Amino acid sequence: MPANEKPVNITSYLQEERVFPPPKDFSKRSHIKSLAHYRKLYNDSIRSPEAFWGRQAKNELVWFKPWKKVLQWKEPFAKWFVGGKLNVAYNCLDRHLNTPTANKAALIWEGEPATPGKPGEERTITYKQLHREVCQFANVLKRNGLKRGDRALIYLPMVPEAAVAMLACARIGAVHSVVFGGFSAQSVADRIHDSQARLVITADGGFRRGAVVPLKKNVDEALTLNDERGNLLAKTIEKVIVLRRACNEVHIEAGRDVWWHRELDRVDAHCPAEKMDSEAPLFILYTSGSTGKPKGILHTTGGYLVHVKLSTRYVFDLQETDLFWCTADIGWVTGHSYVVYGPLANGATSLMYEGAPNFPEPDRFWRIVEKYGVTILYTAPTAIRAFMKWGVEWPKKHDLSSLRLLGTVGEPINPEAWIWYHETIGGKRCPIVDTWWQTETGGIMITPLPGATPTKPGTATLPFFGVLPEVVDDKGNPVPRGSGGKLVIRKPWPSMLRGLWGDRKRYQEAYWSEVKGSYFTGDGCRQDKDGYFWIVGRIDDVLNVAGHRIGTAEVESALVSNHKVAEAAVVGRPDELKGQALVAFVTLKGGVKADQSVRDELRNHVAKEIGPVAKPDDIRFAEALPKTRSGKIMRRLLKQIAAGTEIKGDTTTLEDFNVLARLSSSEE
Ligand code: WT7
Repeated sequence: MPANEKPVNITSYLQEERVFPPPKDFSKRSHIKSLAHYRKLYNDSIRSPEAFWGRQAKNELVWFKPWKKVLQWKEPFAKWFVGGKLNVAYNCLDRHLNTPTANKAALIWEGEPATPGKPGEERTITYKQLHREVCQFANVLKRNGLKRGDRALIYLPMVPEAAVAMLACARIGAVHSVVFGGFSAQSVADRIHDSQARLVITADGGFRRGAVVPLKKNVDEALTLNDERGNLLAKTIEKVIVLRRACNEVHIEAGRDVWWHRELDRVDAHCPAEKMDSEAPLFILYTSGSTGKPKGILHTTGGYLVHVKLSTRYVFDLQETDLFWCTADIGWVTGHSYVVYGPLANGATSLMYEGAPNFPEPDRFWRIVEKYGVTILYTAPTAIRAFMKWGVEWPKKHDLSSLRLLGTVGEPINPEAWIWYHETIGGKRCPIVDTWWQTETGGIMITPLPGATPTKPGTATLPFFGVLPEVVDDKGNPVPRGSGGKLVIRKPWPSMLRGLWGDRKRYQEAYWSEVKGSYFTGDGCRQDKDGYFWIVGRIDDVLNVAGHRIGTAEVESALVSNHKVAEAAVVGRPDELKGQALVAFVTLKGGVKADQSVRDELRNHVAKEIGPVAKPDDIRFAEALPKTRSGKIMRRLLKQIAAGTEIKGDTTTLEDFNVLARLSSSEE
């Protein structure tokens, strides 16, 4: 979208006056007990970041070799703890082995219940057991040719083995790229191609709402897909390791595919942790940007781990007796940082649940909270809105008194949902931490500290240690409090992305060229009189649908790859449950009749190309799309049409005004 079509109005009109100070007895027992204490530490971290982070890295992590320099910053490239050597798996596992944590549960896993009324499967894995499983599986990876620096693609359901696979890669210095189990074969193939992965770790199938998701079959298909020139996308793959989970029938290709459990019999449980450079790549995670191609966000070792360890402890006020449940899938960054690495680095117990929140019934989450005595629950606003819709009778059936802290992430939370969460789930006694961050930031950036920060429904409040956010105008100058602008981060932070895999230029362009000298988040924001940050949503062509970032260009290119489609434009429309819904405006090729079957075909086509998360909620056919005289699609108008609002603003550059009239009435 050219600059002159950018939505200029990013002022937020939301005026929320309610303030919730931290409960006194919560503050008394928490790590950071007052706003003054937070401010002192925060100011320290901003005034002398190297001293602050040097101290944290030394106290929090076990290093095989100390670093020489805390930060080397050559914009936009940062190196943290230069020259230092460590291992992430060692810091999450081995270091706990000679402590009282050794026999504490690292993971508590609840599988999806097979049938309504029956309990789900459950497993508890102590630190000692997890260490052993990771060492064994690390040896399996080595046996199958994976070496330090090689990439492995992980495509698994939410089972403990997903964490085992990630940690095993980290242990041997291989780089993992986890692909969400809801993504399609095409997405798997594209990610293999981009990361040049050598090995895939998958399962026969995963369970989702009682059905089997055929993961291995998707991998088989991914390994046959070609690019537009007819070259095999996944030609770097040598081995596929298959976990038996759903016991569905799968094809095993001799010489390429091996069973996880059979391989385990062939290795021992001794595997030293590789001494990795602080800046060695830890993982690549693909996320949507404003162009058609997903971005391979690269995170490295030392800085990432310091930040996620520290943020897990302070944001969730982690105590020895907590049971921490982050409901995110391992395929998203939230699963990386706050299901696996953050909790385990702290020696905490992390709960993992395989299934959907409403299977077999809408009280699934509350059943789990009661059954295990979950103390901290971290979930997404879109889930909270769904719970509200399903009704209070479901949480009311269960004893939720074990909960002491609630968290949200993924999108702005509307005050109504915040209050519902506070009252119905938190029994008015639990603070809520609304945490703002991104795949790119690696860890939480703007957030309350629950014992210190008074909260207001709808704002992520204040920056975490070492994070210097600012709201700026188009020229990059700070805007006054109360005005809207672009959210940027002024200083490098330890868990920041180190780049886009294999694409230096795109990294610079996407994040460091919009506002000179700053990291551009792509979000619109406003600061209130107390300095609290209110995120008002994305300002680039990226939508937030049910907490998932979806690039509209990606969906458009999936649509036009269907032979019936001539042109497509995808925009967002406000949606009560999902935050935003995807609306596609499609022009079909000559001779193709627009009807419901084409609509279904196109929705399934997008699901196949990208994954079900990207399926348009609504497809509207049009003879033509509204364009400027220079040929640019006028998305601003399409957004208004999609939202059903009156068309406002300047239409003088519109090429054919009749198109608008037809679109507005194009129900079929
Ligand atoms: C985008 C990042 C961070 C893990 C999950 C999403 C939006 C995220 C909040 C929040 C308002 C939020 C932003 C951000 N977002 N958290 N607490 N309040 N908006 O990661 O897929 O990289 O998406 O999600 O727009 O830029 P992601």
